[in-house]
Amino acid sequence: MSWAARCWERSSTAPSAPGSIHVIMGARSSIVNRDHDETVNRDHDEETGQAPGRTLWVCGAITCMLDWPDPRPMKRLIIAIDGPSGAGKGTIARTIAQALKYRHVDTGAMYRAVGWKAQHDRVPLDDEAAVAALANRSRINVEGGRVLIDDHDVTQAIRTPAIDKAAAAVARLPRVRDVLVARQREMGGEGGVVMEGRDIGTVVFPSADVKIYLDASEEERARRRLNDAAHSGGQAGEAAVAASIHARDRSDTTRTVSPLTLAVDAVRIDTTGMPIDQVVDKVMGLVKSKIGDS
Ligand code: DC
Repeated sequence: MSWAARCWERSSTAPSAPGSIHVIMGARSSIVNRDHDETVNRDHDEETGQAPGRTLWVCGAITCMLDWPDPRPMKRLIIAIDGPSGAGKGTIARTIAQALKYRHVDTGAMYRAVGWKAQHDRVPLDDEAAVAALANRSRINVEGGRVLIDDHDVTQAIRTPAIDKAAAAVARLPRVRDVLVARQREMGGEGGVVMEGRDIGTVVFPSADVKIYLDASEEERARRRLNDAAHSGGQAGEAAVAASIHARDRSDTTRTVSPLTLAVDAVRIDTTGMPIDQVVDKVMGLVKSKIGDS
């Protein structure tokens, strides 16, 4: 391979260090500034969080590439996804977080873990002070697809009808919410997060950059829950699941603290009959327009 060809190959495959200059042989004779489309460029540089450098093609037989970091770091957004049970929040939030290399926080799993621990430690679910103290002293980790509370891996144990009820019960207690909301703000305050729950856009991060409210008909949500392999516990069938979803909707929307409600500035997406990739595209479109604005 000729020297020129080797240089060409190296410059077009190896990432260049910021500030480096490559001089390579080539036949380009135009000047192109690759920085014309910031949204697209930023898509390619999520890992560093920086908009990529610029490439300058210089006329003639010699081509120079100059790369330097864009002085404006890319804004890492707070993306809030709220909605009722079975609306598809988990799947959508996980997919969006993976695509953006953001943190994904399932706040419902935090309430479930507290409900599980209260039952495990035989703390009455309506003893607000005791459940709040339990939540306060517990280490809860809901990242990486697993749910841990203290030394217990409860990833599967929290997806049962009994814990559906326990989680809804502890989620009604204001002092428990205070503890968990404070933790959620710590986890997401720096941005670069997709947080799903019931009150993310209204209470946890009222100034979130993107607020989505995912919804679907009660029948469709019951069907999805029934087919959700992660959710076990021997529910009898669609009618039982539908009744449980209906009861939780009531509990979530009628409680006095932080009820599930559509934030005024949230975009509501009715996912009934919509394939997942269509919902993902829609949410990504909103995220990209926000990144483009910032
Ligand atoms: O999303 P989920 O079904 O795993 O939530 C479990 C319970 O916790 C459910 O009753 C709603 C409640 N919850 C809440 O009150 N606030 C949140 N941010 C998340 C969940």
